[in-house]
Amino acid sequence: MEPFRSLQDAVKAHYERHVYPQFPLWASVRTCDAYALNLDALWARFNGERLPQKERKILLAGCGSFSPYPAAVANPEAQITALDLSEANLRRATLHSWIHGYFNVNFIRGDITQTAGSDFLKDQRFHFIDCYGVLHHIPDVITALNALHSWLNPAGFMRIMVYSQSARRSAQSIRTAMRMLGVHTLRELKQLCRNAPTGSRFRDYLDATPEADFDSGLADLFLHPYAKTYTLEALLKILEITGFEPLQFIHWGALPEITSEIARLKKLEKSNELRSNFILLVGRKQDTKIRIEWQKIKNRQDTVITLNPVIQRSLPWLPFIPLKPEPKLGFVNPSINDQDKRLLSRFRTPVRQTAIKPADRDRVEQYLQALFLIETSRPNLSP
Ligand SMILES: C[S@@+](CC[C@H](N)C(=O)[O-])C[C@H]1O[C@@H](n2cnc3c(N)ncnc32)[C@H](O)[C@@H]1O
Repeated sequence: MEPFRSLQDAVKAHYERHVYPQFPLWASVRTCDAYALNLDALWARFNGERLPQKERKILLAGCGSFSPYPAAVANPEAQITALDLSEANLRRATLHSWIHGYFNVNFIRGDITQTAGSDFLKDQRFHFIDCYGVLHHIPDVITALNALHSWLNPAGFMRIMVYSQSARRSAQSIRTAMRMLGVHTLRELKQLCRNAPTGSRFRDYLDATPEADFDSGLADLFLHPYAKTYTLEALLKILEITGFEPLQFIHWGALPEITSEIARLKKLEKSNELRSNFILLVGRKQDTKIRIEWQKIKNRQDTVITLNPVIQRSLPWLPFIPLKPEPKLGFVNPSINDQDKRLLSRFRTPVRQTAIKPADRDRVEQYLQALFLIETSRPNLSP
C-alpha cells in the first residue's frame, strides 16, 4: 500500500545511512554467551525433541549489521539466512561474520513485507526466526507477521523484541521534539546533545541510555522515520490475528509462566512503571498441541537430559577461566564453579532424569531453566 511504501523506503534509506548496530569489526562474543540462541536447546525446550543434524534452518529477519555473527557462534552447523532491507547493514554483517571465521550465513537483501511475487527465500522454511528490534520499524506489521508465520516450519518459533509504549515514552517525546525543531541530521542532533544542560531531562536521558553513546544509536533513538511503540494489549492483538501465541517472555524480570507475566506487565503499564521493552518467543497457534503433548510427556515419562551444545563447547575453559554466561533469558544465571563443571560434564552424553542423584536435582533444574541443559523425550539424535 502506498503510504506504507514511502515510509518503508524512508526506513531503508535510514539504515543505508546509519549502519546499526555500530560495533567495531573486532568486537567478539564469548561462545558461552551465545547459549540462548542455540537452536537445539530452544527446539528441545518447546518440542521435547532433537532436530535432525542436517535440518537446522534459521532466519534472521532484519538482521542488522551484527546479529548473524552471534547466531553463527551459537549454531555453527545450521544453515543461517540473514535478511535485511539495507545493503549497508548486510555488507557490514558479512564482513563481521567472515572476519570471525563464520561462513554458514547466506546474506539476502529483501523486504519482509514484499513477499508477494518475490522469490528471495525460494520457498524455504525455518525452524527458528529471529526478528529482534524490527517489527516496530515496519509500518505494515500485519503483512510482516503473516509473512514470518508462513516461513516457519511446523513447531518452529520466533524471537521478537518490540518497543513498549511505557518504556519508550521519553525517547518518543524527544524524537517528536526533534521533528518539531526541524532537527533531521546527525550533525545537528549531536550538536544539541553536546549542549544539553546538566540536570535537564534530555541530558539525564542521554546519560542513562547506552544507545546514545554511538552515532547510529542516537539516530535510531531520535531520527528514525518510523518507530512505533506498543502496549502489551496491542502487541498480543497483532500476534493473535496473525496466528502466533507467546511461548515465553525473556525480557529482564519476566516471570516464567505466561499468564502471570501478562498480568505483571499489565499492572506495570497501568502504574506507568514498565521500564523494559517486550522480548519474547512466540510460536504458531496451530502447534499448541505439539507443545501441550511435550508438557504431558514430561510429567509422565522418564525424559533425557543433555548439555546445551554451546555450553558443551565452553566447558573445557571453565576451570581455568571462571565463566558466568551473560543473562539472556531475563534472570541472573546460576554460576558454574568447579564442582558445577563436574556435574555439567556428566551430561555430555544423555542422562535419564531418573538417574540423577536427589542431591543434584535442584541444581539440574536451575540449569534446565537457564537452558545450559536441555531436556528431550528421547536420547537419540535423529539422523
Ligand atoms: C534496529 S535494527 C535491528 C537489527 C538486528 N535485528 C539487531 O538486533 O541487532 C532493525 C533492522 O531491521 C531492518 N528492517 C527494517 N524493516 C525491514 C523490512 N521490512 N524487511 C527487512 N528488514 C527490515 C533494518 O534495515 C535494520 O537492519
